Amino acid sequence: MSKIISGKELSAELKAAMAARVAEFPAKYGRVPHLAVILVGDNPASVSYVTGKAKAAAEVGIRNTTIRRPADISEEELLGLIAELNADDEVDGILVQLPLPKHIDEDKVIAAIDIRKDVDGFHPLNVAALWQKQPCTLPCTPKGIMKMLERAGVAVAGKKAVVIGRSNIVGLPVAKLLLDANATVTIAHSRTADLPAVTREADILVVAIGRPKFVTADMVGDGAVVIDVGVNRDPETGKLCGDVDFAAVEGKASVITPVPGGVGPMTITCLMENTVECFLAKMGE
Ligand code: GUN
Repeated sequence: MSKIISGKELSAELKAAMAARVAEFPAKYGRVPHLAVILVGDNPASVSYVTGKAKAAAEVGIRNTTIRRPADISEEELLGLIAELNADDEVDGILVQLPLPKHIDEDKVIAAIDIRKDVDGFHPLNVAALWQKQPCTLPCTPKGIMKMLERAGVAVAGKKAVVIGRSNIVGLPVAKLLLDANATVTIAHSRTADLPAVTREADILVVAIGRPKFVTADMVGDGAVVIDVGVNRDPETGKLCGDVDFAAVEGKASVITPVPGGVGPMTITCLMENTVECFLAKMGE
C-alpha cells in the first residue's frame, strides 16, 4: 500500500496558520490582502477553479474580488481592466484565469500584469528570475508540489525525477524546482520515445499531461513517489480523476497523491500564500 499525501489536509493546516497571521494585518497595516481574479467566459473548469479560489480566500481572511467578463471581450478591453487593477493601490494580487479565448494573446495579457501583483508567477520577468535562481514569486502548482514532497519526508537530492508534461504552468517550473532541490530531472512529453521505459526509472514521477488515467501500473517503478497534477473527468464514470490510474498504481508507489484532494487544494493554498507575500512586500516587509 502506498502512503497517500493529502493535499486537502496539508492545505487546511497551512490555511489555518495563514488565517491567524492575516487576522493581525488590519491592526498592523490597516487592511487585509486583496486578490483580484479575472474570469473571461464560462468554461466550467475555470468557473470551478475560480470558485475554489474565492472560498479559500474567505477561509484565510483575504479579500477576493472576482471580475467576470464575457468570452467576446476584446483584448484591448481586457488589457484596460488589467491596467486599472495595476493602478489600484488596494489590489495586491491579480490573477487572470487561463485559458483565455483564442482571439486574445495570453502572453500579452500575462506580461501586462504588474510583476509585483503577479500572484501566479507567470510574468516573463518572474519566469526569468526563477530560471536564474533569483527571488521571485513561484508558480502555485509547482510550489504546492514541493511542499507536499517535503511534508511526506521525500528526500529529493540525488533522486531521479521524471516530469511528464512541459507546460509553462506546471511541467517546466516544477522541473526547475526539482533541479534546484538537486534531483536529476528528465522532462518527458507526448513525443518521448518509449515513455514507459523512461517513467519506470523515476524515483519521483510528476504527471501533468492532462489525460485521464494515462499513467498505468506498468509505467511506475516499485516504490516510486507519484505526484498527480491532472484534473479530468473519467470518460467511463464521469467522476473526477487524475492523470494517474490511482487504483492500479496505489499498490506500487511508496507515496502517491489522490485526485481530488491532492495537488489541486495545494495550488489554491499557494495562491493565497503568494497573495500574502505580494501584500507584505508592498507593506515594506
Ligand atoms: N489555469 C489552470 N491553472 C491555472 C493557474 O494556476 N493559474 C491561472 N491563472 N490559470 C490557470
